[in-house]
Amino acid sequence: MSQKKQMKVLITGADGQLGWELRRAAPAAVELTACNSAELDITSGALVKEFVSRLRPQIIINAAAYTAVDKAEGEVERAMAVNRDGAADLAAAAADVGAGIIHVSTDFVFDGCHYRPYLPEDAPHPLGVYGQSKLAGERLLLAKCRNSAVIRTAWVYSSHGNNFVKTMLRLMAGRDELGVVADQIGSPTWAGGLAQALWQTAAAKLTGVYHWTDAGIASWYDFACAIQEEALALGILKRQAVIRPLRTEDYPTPARRPPYAVLDKTGLWQKLGAAAPHWRFNLKKCWRN
Ligand SMILES: NC(=O)c1ccc[n+]([C@@H]2O[C@H](COP(=O)([O-])OP(=O)(O)OC[C@H]3O[C@@H](n4cnc5c(N)ncnc54)[C@H](OP(=O)(O)O)[C@@H]3O)[C@@H](O)[C@H]2O)c1
Repeated sequence: MSQKKQMKVLITGADGQLGWELRRAAPAAVELTACNSAELDITSGALVKEFVSRLRPQIIINAAAYTAVDKAEGEVERAMAVNRDGAADLAAAAADVGAGIIHVSTDFVFDGCHYRPYLPEDAPHPLGVYGQSKLAGERLLLAKCRNSAVIRTAWVYSSHGNNFVKTMLRLMAGRDELGVVADQIGSPTWAGGLAQALWQTAAAKLTGVYHWTDAGIASWYDFACAIQEEALALGILKRQAVIRPLRTEDYPTPARRPPYAVLDKTGLWQKLGAAAPHWRFNLKKCWRN
């Protein structure tokens, strides 16, 4: 017997890590329209307005983003077009049809210089273009649609798409030794768990700014060691590479990273009635899914 659809939802950026996991985790009662960048380019304001007014979703989940943190330093206009203007146009289109919008943002809105978990209401101070574009998008989105929620997350990986886990597996398979930054701290977050939290956020009709990552913290070096340990145990890797801890200054990148990118997620955990699992648990779960 087919189940009655109770909520009409539009997902943007449907082929990204999060978009893909959102599609997989969609509740049966959702009537889903999931668009990749070719099907709905959020930098076209006119297209977004027309598409949303025709579809009339009850909720939009915006998983579309310009996520190339280093490239963004040289592609300011493109980053702003997607992360600032795209988010704003989606929010305006949502407001026009009385829909809600859930928008995903980042730990990069903070400078990471406070060595305590960041609260949603802490003053943002992005260190680079990507963080600036995401913060501008958050602000416009909240201003343009009353019924909006911003969920900031960090260090996202999935079995689909490009991410740190896949890069590490590739390097570990091909090298005897590699160096990984050990003085940047954050919370590795499985996109599958984040997707479930976003569906719960939609069902609970939450508005405002929240944080969601997996529980626990790690440096990139710790994360790399855990990836290797799990991959060896599962037979994904056949041999062990030596992993050397690096300092940030030993691994210069065009964009500066927040040294302490830990988010306080207790607010959203309380609203949803459950905490996220520890990142190490979800790392194993990602490979089993
Ligand atoms: N990945 C992380 O570590 C991380 C950390 C913190 C926050 N976040 C946030 O989490 C969200 C999801 O990230 P993710 O990891 O899933 O990123 P992702 O894998 O890079 O996916 C982003 C998707 O957005 C699409 N996109 C780009 N420009 C678009 C446009 N103009 N119109 C429509 N779609 C467009 C991309 O499509 P194309 O590939 O076709 O361009 C891609 O499929 C983003 O808001 C990101 O800022 C991510």
